[in-house]
Amino acid sequence: MRPYLNARIPGGGADLTSARILIVDDEEANIQILLRALGRANYTNVRSTTDPREALALFREFEPDLLLLDLSMPYLDGFQVIERLQPELGDDAYLPILVLTADSRPEVKSRALSCGAKDFLTKPLDLVEVLLRIRNLLEARFLYVELQRQNEVLEQKVRERTRELEEAQIEIIDRLARAAEFRDHTTGLHTRRVGEISALLARTLGLPDHEVELLRKAAPLHDVGKISLADDILLKPGKLSPEEIEINRAHTILGAELLSGGQFPLMQLAEEIALTHHERWDGEGYPRGLRGEEIPLSGRIVAVADVFDALTHNRPYKSAWSMDEAVAEIRKQSGRQFDPAVVDALLSILLDEEGDGRRTLEAILCLGEHEGPGPCSICGAMPAPRHSANGRSPQAPAFASRVVATP
Ligand SMILES: [Fe+2]
Repeated sequence: MRPYLNARIPGGGADLTSARILIVDDEEANIQILLRALGRANYTNVRSTTDPREALALFREFEPDLLLLDLSMPYLDGFQVIERLQPELGDDAYLPILVLTADSRPEVKSRALSCGAKDFLTKPLDLVEVLLRIRNLLEARFLYVELQRQNEVLEQKVRERTRELEEAQIEIIDRLARAAEFRDHTTGLHTRRVGEISALLARTLGLPDHEVELLRKAAPLHDVGKISLADDILLKPGKLSPEEIEINRAHTILGAELLSGGQFPLMQLAEEIALTHHERWDGEGYPRGLRGEEIPLSGRIVAVADVFDALTHNRPYKSAWSMDEAVAEIRKQSGRQFDPAVVDALLSILLDEEGDGRRTLEAILCLGEHEGPGPCSICGAMPAPRHSANGRSPQAPAFASRVVATP
């Protein structure tokens, strides 16, 4: 909105006398007549010039609510003045221009009205009529300004409601990810870490900020389909049978079905990731055996993040690998299990001597690791004392202790 649209609405409803009025007329006598008439009508905020070349600068400085404009003037006529003001007005402005001229030819009148003037009066002026026209034009001006202000308020409210909706959606997604994790609880904050690692990889790959943020929020839902798996498979001790492996692999399809039909990009991306995060670059993955760039980039990124996080953390069936061991394994799978570009992004994060990529990655991998018994398996830090504000130690829910390795 241009500055002059922020004009205050004169108080007292019909009291328009504090409106800013600019007069441009090369005849000083005409200006004096208008100033006297406006003064008698209690208009207190009036500026004028006899030099039309000053009109633009005055307009910018004074930001008038109404322009009284002569047409026949030296240097610049009234039409040229209007032309110069047009870029200042923009498309959404309403600046009333009242043309006052001795030239009463119909073609002049229609030209003036068609090129921006809102009203037209001929000299010699009937001052009563001039004041009535001024009043009408100012009323229209301030109604317009008030309408613009209300539109701004409404747009602001819509922006706030949209933001609240987005936040509610993110909260629901976060809880859904946690619900999935509750069934498979030994992964701790695995889903959140996968979201953070995915975002880091996406940023390194040069994805725009809004896509990085979407990925950060959607990636934690990659295994949400495990909600649908029966306990005797999800929590089974020991190796899964080939048939159970197939059922477990269906968590990709089940997750995608659970998330399908989303109206917002975040849910649509979560669906895409749930379906494709176990596809392999060499086409040997599941559920559809997609190959290379047939796999959406989101799925290729989350595939690396998911495995990298799993390797660097303790599981019932394996101890945590060091970051370097995990990177070596990921590297070995470049072009086989993983997209080489995503693997390269991970390596560049770790090799970035000047930036803080490695530290950022370490901090992500430590998420949730400082709360368990014993030192952090990533950085060796001891857990912080765990006391809540009411003096009781927080209790972790008693879940079953078995986690199924993703075959
Ligand atoms: Fe999975």
